[in-house]
Amino acid sequence: MPNLLKGKRGIISGALDANSIAWKVAQRCHQEGAQIVLTNAPIAMRMGEIKKLAEETGAEIVPADATSVEDLTNLFSKSMEIMGGKIDFMLHSIGMSVNIRKNIPYTESNYDYFMKGIDVSAMSLHKMLATAMKLDAMSEGGSVVALSYIAAQRTYPFYTDMADIKAMLESITRSFGYHYGKFRKVRVNSVSQSPTKTTAGTGIKGFDDFYNFADKLSPLGNASADSCADYCVTLFSDLTRMVTMQNLYHDGGYSTTGVSMELMEGMATNNS
Ligand SMILES: NC(=O)c1ccc[n+]([C@@H]2O[C@H](COP(=O)([O-])OP(=O)(O)OC[C@H]3O[C@@H](n4cnc5c(N)ncnc54)[C@H](O)[C@@H]3O)[C@@H](O)[C@H]2O)c1
Repeated sequence: MPNLLKGKRGIISGALDANSIAWKVAQRCHQEGAQIVLTNAPIAMRMGEIKKLAEETGAEIVPADATSVEDLTNLFSKSMEIMGGKIDFMLHSIGMSVNIRKNIPYTESNYDYFMKGIDVSAMSLHKMLATAMKLDAMSEGGSVVALSYIAAQRTYPFYTDMADIKAMLESITRSFGYHYGKFRKVRVNSVSQSPTKTTAGTGIKGFDDFYNFADKLSPLGNASADSCADYCVTLFSDLTRMVTMQNLYHDGGYSTTGVSMELMEGMATNNS
């Protein structure tokens, strides 16, 4: 196995349990020789699962609510102290919509919940990047990846306010990508991932049906969390050092397929 991330230091947010995309990313980064710090909201820590991942990957855990600049300042300072230098890569794998959790239709969105969703799932990326920049915590040529979903570009009625929130997240990758690129040649990209069976994913109404639909539409099938981790490793590596401010589809070809023969067959009428 090549050591694509040998000597690199990374921060991985969002590993809740073994299904989390971030969990797989942490495992792959460790396999590729990186040293990592794991972080999640203090409430997620109390659930305890993350300690297993920390043991497996030799990582330390620094709790941080991604909406708190104070927590994020502590996260970057502690991470540099623990790993003995600046941060080379960072994964933003944070998403939560109270409107989705409470099954509230998009047209009846509760605005306090909407604001909470924006703060947790999109503004948190801005806060992470701004905090890192203020502390000058990222290495020259470092790489930041945030996870997104195609509902930022196309309408998926069940994705409700998260569609707008992901559009904002992707916009922040572009806007901040410019500034961090100029400042330290830091790359900022989003990866638009296939539906994936995780706690956040399966919390969406009708997820299983939609998962199967996307699987049948994509020529390669849905991209798994493991393959997403592989892709993130390439983006953290030096091999992609000129890729920035992009929304990169990791979806088995879903985003550019109009229709598949499997789905056409399912729609066939008697006179066709
Ligand atoms: N699962 C999918 O189908 C899918 C598809 C495309 C993109 N994504 C995105 O991938 C990312 C990771 O989600 P996942 O599917 O692995 O689910 P997950 O539930 O395993 O991960 C979401 C994480 O966000 C963390 N989080 C929530 N509030 C937080 C806060 N205030 N501070 C810090 N962390 C907080 C949770 O503790 C959890 O670890 C999300 O951005 C999600 O939108 C998921």
